[in-house]
Amino acid sequence: MNINNYWSKKSHQIASQIFRNNLRNNNIIMDPFLGSGTSLQGIKELNIDLKFIGVELNEMPLAYANFNANPPTKEDLIKMSKEFTDFYNKNKNFYEFKSEKDEIYELEKVILDLPSDKVEVKSFNFKDSNSKTFTVDRKKNLNLFNYYKNIYLNKSNQAKKNIKKDLLLDENSRIAIKSQMYISHLYGPISFYLLQKICDKFKENELFKVVISSILHLTKYTDLRSQSQFPYWFPKKNAMERNILILILKKIKSLIKNHQISDKKISKKKNFISLKNSSEKSYMLINKPIQNINLEIPDNSVDLIFTDPPYYDQVAYSEYLAIWEFFLSYKKNNQFELIQTNRKKGVKDKGTYLINLKKCFKIIVNKMKNNSQAIIYFKDSKLKNVNDFLNILSSCGLDFIKQEHIVKKKYTYKQNTTKETTVTGDSLFYFKKVNRTKKLINKKYDIQKIESIIFQFTKKYLQKNKTANIAQILDNGLIKELFINGYLGTLKDSNMIYKILNKKYLIDKNSRNLIEK
Ligand SMILES: C[S@@+](CC[C@H](N)C(=O)[O-])C[C@H]1O[C@@H](n2cnc3c(N)ncnc32)[C@H](O)[C@@H]1O
Repeated sequence: MNINNYWSKKSHQIASQIFRNNLRNNNIIMDPFLGSGTSLQGIKELNIDLKFIGVELNEMPLAYANFNANPPTKEDLIKMSKEFTDFYNKNKNFYEFKSEKDEIYELEKVILDLPSDKVEVKSFNFKDSNSKTFTVDRKKNLNLFNYYKNIYLNKSNQAKKNIKKDLLLDENSRIAIKSQMYISHLYGPISFYLLQKICDKFKENELFKVVISSILHLTKYTDLRSQSQFPYWFPKKNAMERNILILILKKIKSLIKNHQISDKKISKKKNFISLKNSSEKSYMLINKPIQNINLEIPDNSVDLIFTDPPYYDQVAYSEYLAIWEFFLSYKKNNQFELIQTNRKKGVKDKGTYLINLKKCFKIIVNKMKNNSQAIIYFKDSKLKNVNDFLNILSSCGLDFIKQEHIVKKKYTYKQNTTKETTVTGDSLFYFKKVNRTKKLINKKYDIQKIESIIFQFTKKYLQKNKTANIAQILDNGLIKELFINGYLGTLKDSNMIYKILNKKYLIDKNSRNLIEK
């Protein structure tokens, strides 16, 4: 049993593999950008007594990390199910519609069009007393549809009148927050009202809060397949509003069903001394920005950094988390977040991101033992960004050793990329803490030299490996080759590599595998 739908979560199996290959009993790992704690999950299955320190500035992902490190017992879940069923029975009237024949139907979902500032209902999905579901559609039976529409609008108005609070969101067009957009715009009024009531009632219950967190993205208007991970986006056509009481109850039931008694726990410690002295696998979490970490972790004490820092402007974690703070009081921290964002209030440009990156990594490197490794996820189709990232890390005392491509079956186009510039999978950069930093070369754009590096590398790579796509070639050595020769920063994005390779190779549109011309 695991709860995790955090943005850009990583695989805990990869973390396990890296820890198994690089660590032994009592070694200390630190993840300074913990997120939902998939790296912490990585120590669970290993037979090595590792000590883990996670640092994260936002509260919500820490709740996931704790839940997964120490899952609740089945009894806890059953207790929660009972408490919520009670709440459900007291409040389900919001979703109960009386038919013309006085039968009670429970509303499961409503499909609507949402042209700006208006709501146009299209159809209702109901469940009768025998749990049989049926649809009432505007197009198929207008009279019946209008009958239910009136009930729905009355209930929505009633809910609207009882809503206690709302929140004006910080405008940011990149993450679909328009000027004067309130959090209530994302929600049907019944859901908005009930969700506040639920969160108020269960606000002291940590377990309940984690469970609600994991389905919060489904409580707002979603598309029909509920696929968007962007919390502020909702479709203008065919949006869906769900019965959130059913949604929560189903989630609790599925947790009970998937509960495993064998699920191991990791011992939680309050501070570094008790972590270090612990005789079993243990972890501690620090809810602070890494820039503010000082005496909590002694200098020269960490054996391995394994982390996945925010990549420039790719995911606006703290801005997304405004919804979680609003409903569940999980504190977010926009001020200290390492991010590039063009929000109206408190914009942070690329320069600010890089300055903060340096501040963060200076602290991180201080905490590392000499000659220890830092293994860091990083991916950006803009090669200039990768170059700036590597330059900053090098200036903090991290020597770039190698890079490794991680195949990922599923991938989404990040907000700032197009199909042409997107490269698939994840990638890990390996660094070593050194006393003296290497002098870096940054050369001017020279197409002949660049082409020669790219073609030589690709030829060798293809001789060794039967097939390769552009992402594999880039991550398994070409980025490093371009970096040490000083040309990485002159290449805007991976599409430039694509165009150069295209001179000698055909590139399959889907797999992006290279075939010699
Ligand atoms: C890419 S995510 C990590 C995801 C993680 N690997 C997982 O699997 O869930 C980066 C995390 O860094 C956090 N973060 C951003 N700035 C930070 C800072 N200054 N100090 C600590 N954490 C920060 C963000 O809130 C976010 O959760």
